[in-house]
Amino acid sequence: MGDRPTLRFITCGSVDDGKSTLIGRLLHESKNIFDDQMTALEKDSRQYGTQGDRMDLALLVDGLQAEREQGITIDVAYRFFATPKRRFIVADTPGHEQYTRNMATGASTAELAIILIDARKGVLTQTRRHTRIVAMMGIRHVVLAINKMDLMAFDESVFNEIVEVFTSFAAGFNFSTLHAIPLSALEGDNVFARSARTPWYSGPTLLDYLDSVVTIPEVTSRPFRMSVQWVNRPNLDFRGFLGRVSQGVVRKGDRVCVLPSGVTSKVKGIVVWQGELEHVQAGESITLTLEDEVDVSRGDLLVSVEAPPQVADQFEAHLLWMSEHPLVAGRPYLIKLHSKEVSGTVSSIKFREDVNTGARVAAKSLGLNEIGVVNLSLAQRVAFEPYVTNRALGGFILIDKLSLETVGAGMIDFALRRATNLYWQALEVNQQARSELMHQRPCCIWFTGLSGAGKSTIANLLEQRLHAEGRHTFILDGDNIRHGLSRDLGFTEADRVENIRRIAEVAKLMTDAGLIVLVSFISPFRSERKMARELFADGNFIEVFVDASLEECERRDTKGLYAKARRGELQNFTGIDSSYEAPEKAEVHLRSGAESAEACMERILLKMR
Ligand code: ADX
Repeated sequence: MGDRPTLRFITCGSVDDGKSTLIGRLLHESKNIFDDQMTALEKDSRQYGTQGDRMDLALLVDGLQAEREQGITIDVAYRFFATPKRRFIVADTPGHEQYTRNMATGASTAELAIILIDARKGVLTQTRRHTRIVAMMGIRHVVLAINKMDLMAFDESVFNEIVEVFTSFAAGFNFSTLHAIPLSALEGDNVFARSARTPWYSGPTLLDYLDSVVTIPEVTSRPFRMSVQWVNRPNLDFRGFLGRVSQGVVRKGDRVCVLPSGVTSKVKGIVVWQGELEHVQAGESITLTLEDEVDVSRGDLLVSVEAPPQVADQFEAHLLWMSEHPLVAGRPYLIKLHSKEVSGTVSSIKFREDVNTGARVAAKSLGLNEIGVVNLSLAQRVAFEPYVTNRALGGFILIDKLSLETVGAGMIDFALRRATNLYWQALEVNQQARSELMHQRPCCIWFTGLSGAGKSTIANLLEQRLHAEGRHTFILDGDNIRHGLSRDLGFTEADRVENIRRIAEVAKLMTDAGLIVLVSFISPFRSERKMARELFADGNFIEVFVDASLEECERRDTKGLYAKARRGELQNFTGIDSSYEAPEKAEVHLRSGAESAEACMERILLKMR
């Protein structure tokens, strides 16, 4: 059993196309339905089936689907069956557009896709969408299952016409294999047994084809790659690197390179749970030891020195957005690429790709289930390979830093080399030298709160006090900065993210210059306040939440903007039609409605001492 190779495939289509019936039949005829499932199925068929006395195989699949729909995660149902030659894992995902992310998830580990077509309907928009997703996710082998041929009297010309339309559409995707089969999943024609009703079709049945198609990628002949999942150091004499060989073969004595550092060494030993080995190949999980004391950490790659992958920090990538909350360019996300986690941002969205037509559309953001081509900028250099050549080293996910939800799935197209020509210039007069000269500890006091909450008033008072005490200060104020540095920005989410990024960087430069900087911006999003905080050393960033209720701010309405927003003359107004995420753990929490501005200022001073 264990020595049979496994083929993973995905079925693309909707229930109406007969997808559930087809999967049900594959499971049923390969005798892989457990007996209790079988009894339940017979009962359900009588009760709910649409096939009279016959068993409704679709129920086998749909039953599980109901369960799945309650899940909040992006789930894919995986089903298993086997023949004497191969074992199969089928990823079954719903076919509608709102399930694009589910389909992509299922396709990401599959080697082959069965694209199901209803012979009565031919190639539909959804067929094109499925094909596009399948190709994007790196599947190179496609079976076109033209189903419900019984309803078209097994007419050869119907089959040929669909094949022709599909083949010309799919030509651009360069699939390695593409085979079409006329089927009736319901009646069983050409699924397991050859059909007498398609004498004009001389190819294999679906199962014969799945049993013999060469799709299992040849990973052993390619250069050695292993991503380090764990560094094992039980005592001072042993340091082993745990991981799974994802490609190639590694032998004792081989020269290997550690990436991204580029340091080289020799393989000293290969340990598996049974003992020591001379060599291992792709697929094995091992502990590797090296001759030299080199620095290797979790997420690093061990690779053959002859053909190492590239290392970069800027990429062009395809990105599928999986979250209800849209992608915001410029916002830092956690990016997980093989076992490496780094901070990074989508620096720009080049275009969105219409999933149905493939058309390129200008876009400032990506919504749930949308696909775009983006530039990605990481905080560190990472080793990678383009997704088309290596899914394991070219596929990544984006994780929201606060909720830890997976919000996007990406595929690296290629590295962008721009940033590699930039160096950090080391300067002799540093922050410490400047702050000593000024006799003060530079820091950033970051005021956040609704418009009209009193941020600027309190910041002003504080600056006057500090100035009177002989401190060197500077105020960065939202309204003022938006007249100059951020003149080009409006109030969309993306613009606010960019606004805060700029201000945080400017505030950082000013503290480097030795100043005490007071920043007064609505800064409505937790993510960006966190980003700002991370620029400063611990204790040098004091977040001040100027808390006033929306009602209170609206009542004051010193600038008349709330009234305007209520009249619909001002869009994206914070508190009205744009959100404000209150801080959870600000260093200072001021209630400006209950305390005087002076009292508020005194509380900040206390925190600064
Ligand atoms: S932030 O969201 O990017 O931090 P910022 O503090 O720079 O905002 O600017 C807020 C100021 O811009 C407000 O005090 C208000 O005077 C003005 N403003 C104009 N339009 C808006 C809007 N749609 N939402 C919030 N403030 C606005």
